[in-house]
Amino acid sequence: MTDRHPSGPTDHALWGGRFDGGMAPGMRALNLSLDVDRRLWREDVRGSRAWARALIGAGVISDDEGKRIDEGLVRVLARLETGGPFEEAPDEDVHSLVERLLFEEVGDVAGKLHTGRSRNDQVATDLRLWGMGAGRDLEHAVTDLCRALLGMATRGVEVILPGYTHLQQGQPIRAAQWALAHLWAFDRDRERLRSAVHASGVLPLGSGAIAGCPFPVDRDALARSLGFRRPSQNSVDAVSDRDWALDLSYACAMVGVHLSRLGEDLMLFTSLEFGFLRLDDGYSTGSSLMPQKRNPDVAELARAKAGRLNGNLMALLTLVKGLPTGYNRDLQEDKHTLFDSVDTLLTTVPAVAGAIGTAQFQPERIRAVMDTQLLATDLADHLVRQGVTFRRSHEVVGHLVRRAEEAGVPLAELPIEAFLGAAPEFGGDVRAVFDWERSVEARAAPGGTARDAVTAQIAEAGRSLETEGDEGGQEG
Ligand code: ARG
Repeated sequence: MTDRHPSGPTDHALWGGRFDGGMAPGMRALNLSLDVDRRLWREDVRGSRAWARALIGAGVISDDEGKRIDEGLVRVLARLETGGPFEEAPDEDVHSLVERLLFEEVGDVAGKLHTGRSRNDQVATDLRLWGMGAGRDLEHAVTDLCRALLGMATRGVEVILPGYTHLQQGQPIRAAQWALAHLWAFDRDRERLRSAVHASGVLPLGSGAIAGCPFPVDRDALARSLGFRRPSQNSVDAVSDRDWALDLSYACAMVGVHLSRLGEDLMLFTSLEFGFLRLDDGYSTGSSLMPQKRNPDVAELARAKAGRLNGNLMALLTLVKGLPTGYNRDLQEDKHTLFDSVDTLLTTVPAVAGAIGTAQFQPERIRAVMDTQLLATDLADHLVRQGVTFRRSHEVVGHLVRRAEEAGVPLAELPIEAFLGAAPEFGGDVRAVFDWERSVEARAAPGGTARDAVTAQIAEAGRSLETEGDEGGQEG
């Protein structure tokens, strides 16, 4: 096998018997994937050790051969841990690299390991093994971000700020309600990540190239030993199914979308014009030219990553679209965008969590920009409580708002006669409506911004964060 070198002079090629002459230099570069799939080395060795055990069980190799292969793989693992074998490795991909090293360790018996196995089911298995771990790591990271938001919500229970619709001041809300809005979005991402881990927990190994394995391997035991929930049901499907990778990529894109929305809020809220929040110095950056600048780069970078994550999802969707049944080499291109999405989030999410964990609300600044028109709905609700229809009270308050604007005074400072003249039902106590606390406390239905409703959300979110989940494979 090693004396033909179809893909390079020093290569341990996994194929070549039917070929004459070597691979064209231009093709060789295109054919290589080691620079990307090298990071699957742990999974490749792990899967190979499990496959060797399965081959012993199927009577394909003897106990002694299996033992030599396994010991060899352990030594290969140790060598790969040093990073040394990757340097100037001539191999096409990580699977070829691991097998070449195994030959170096144990000689010809290494040639028995690939019995009944194809790189098609091998790479699908390696990537799923990696994906289960990556999905869990991401869930931990997003959970930490949720904890930071929970802390921010707790600091924001007694802070009232404008709730925006159309980025115009709408109604007052507790700052906690704003922080929790972001938290719940990330909590849904945690669920999506768990579901992607669940989807990845199906074992392709034992599917061969396309038609299945001709040796009686115990695929249930194989699945269990590698931490999968179960083996795949169909060999043709198994070697080309990347749905779970799309689930993961989509979950990543959604985290990116949520980060970008949080980032946008952070940018607005830390601007001079809003001034609602102050980021810690550790998460702010300066300008090389303007000495006064204190930029929220963490939020901008978080916002920017969403584009990259969306692009990665789109690349993978486009990759699998229209592929004929079974494995196609196109699928080799499934890895770099998936790796990139996970890597991107594993650097971005902790930074945002740190920024949130140390950000401080600026209650005086918030109070200074709150316009009493934020209470126009409360005024209308006040009339409704006196028996006026909402349709009419909306109209009445609309007129009062216009009068206040024409007079150049805040709504709350219109003379009492203006209110009573517009609708006698307002009554003498109408001014009591102009109270931020009273407004938020009125929204006491579950999910609202009253103190009790917000505190209940905080408790519920805390409980949700305790269930850090592993709905995927078993630990293996
Ligand atoms: N490196 C390939 C991949 O990542 C696995 C090799 C399968 N190649 C093949 N010619 N069947 O998909």
